[in-house]
Amino acid sequence: MILDDNDRFRQFLIATLEERLGEIDVVEVTSARTAIMLFESDPYFQGFIASLDLKKGSFMEVFQHFRSREYTVPFITYSNEDQDLNLPHLPFLHKDEKDQFSQFTKKLFETPPFVQSPHGPEQYSRIRLFFFWRFHKLDFPLYVRLNDDKYVKVLNPDEHYGPEFLEKYHDKGIDYLYVRSQDFSKFALSLYKKPIVEMDETLPEEEKARRKTQFIQHMALTVGITPDVVESAQENVDGIIAEAKERKTLIKLLHILEKGSTYNSDHATLLCYLTAAMCDELGWTTRRSKEKLGFASLFHDISLTDPRLAVVNYRSLKALDRFESTLKQRYLEHPLKGADLVLEITNEYPQVDTIISQHHERPDGSGFPYGRDFNQITPLACLFIVAHDFVSRAYERNFDLTKPQEILDDMLGEYTQGHFMKCMIALQTVVTKNQLEEQI
Ligand SMILES: [Fe+2]
Ligand SMILES: [Fe+2]
Repeated sequence: MILDDNDRFRQFLIATLEERLGEIDVVEVTSARTAIMLFESDPYFQGFIASLDLKKGSFMEVFQHFRSREYTVPFITYSNEDQDLNLPHLPFLHKDEKDQFSQFTKKLFETPPFVQSPHGPEQYSRIRLFFFWRFHKLDFPLYVRLNDDKYVKVLNPDEHYGPEFLEKYHDKGIDYLYVRSQDFSKFALSLYKKPIVEMDETLPEEEKARRKTQFIQHMALTVGITPDVVESAQENVDGIIAEAKERKTLIKLLHILEKGSTYNSDHATLLCYLTAAMCDELGWTTRRSKEKLGFASLFHDISLTDPRLAVVNYRSLKALDRFESTLKQRYLEHPLKGADLVLEITNEYPQVDTIISQHHERPDGSGFPYGRDFNQITPLACLFIVAHDFVSRAYERNFDLTKPQEILDDMLGEYTQGHFMKCMIALQTVVTKNQLEEQI
């Protein structure tokens, strides 16, 4: 198990471990709390590698937990401070010399770093497919492995790629791509030295927002909401808020989403845009309101990885009966699961958890998980629910909004009370203004 909330360093470490040690099973965690929880549910981890520089909490919590239970799991700690990654050794502060683990560290750190293997004409190093999400081109070729001796080139140096390229392999069950071993060190170092996500600057703003959303959701789902994820989310939300002010991008965004392929990220990007535009319309212009709604947009459905579940809405709830009970349960719990996921950022972004936990409530109290009515739902959650309904309906029409009024007419009768009414009017203005500007 590796505990580090510095995503870039943790990824560098994992890539290096996998390159040096071959088949290993690494579980990455980003908080002491999760580390303890995972360890308690599966006490068979063979070793524990932890950063001493966690931004929140401390490795000492884990250490003390292990000591109080008298666990003997070996561990290594390290500090990123003043680290020169070109040095052959990382500055480990503690090593357990007793068992297997010392073999493991020996093998890892006595091998000079990144030496080219002397065997064979060309050697390849495997790298987790997930890491390539951070970039959009590489300055060396990329390969897929067919069998032990056969590798095919799938990307040329400097050739641009996007999420669709990676998803194609992901869908085929491919978890690793390959680089020539001589290129490995360059790639590993770029995991640490480059920004957490590098966007293709030649893309239009809307496409960048869509891709960034997709990346942030991927990260949040696999490693949780780490400081790097929060920073990227903040940047993405800021960008979308600025775009929303321009007022002309709804239609442009919809055109892009029409071509898009990933339901969750398209859904989130559009929601983020729409909630910001509605706030402007309502005069709820404090940055914080838009930010909270933006963060809720990004993370509200994150646990719904099954696309069949993700598209279910309050008008199609009956469709849930077709699913087995565990899936149905997962759907009904997703607002609370999502709220739980953002718990760690609620100090900086208060109410994001409330908006997420209430996003399937309805004005008449027929929603879930609480069954609250318009009197009991917070204003920001009301705005979110109205925007969310519009986005679901837009999706059902494949984002063809030549007649947005039809959607608005269908929605009108649903939102006649309290904050819902104000929010519905704001939605109407935002959508029709955009429509008018498009026609001009
Ligand atoms: Fe949603
Ligand atoms: Fe949802």
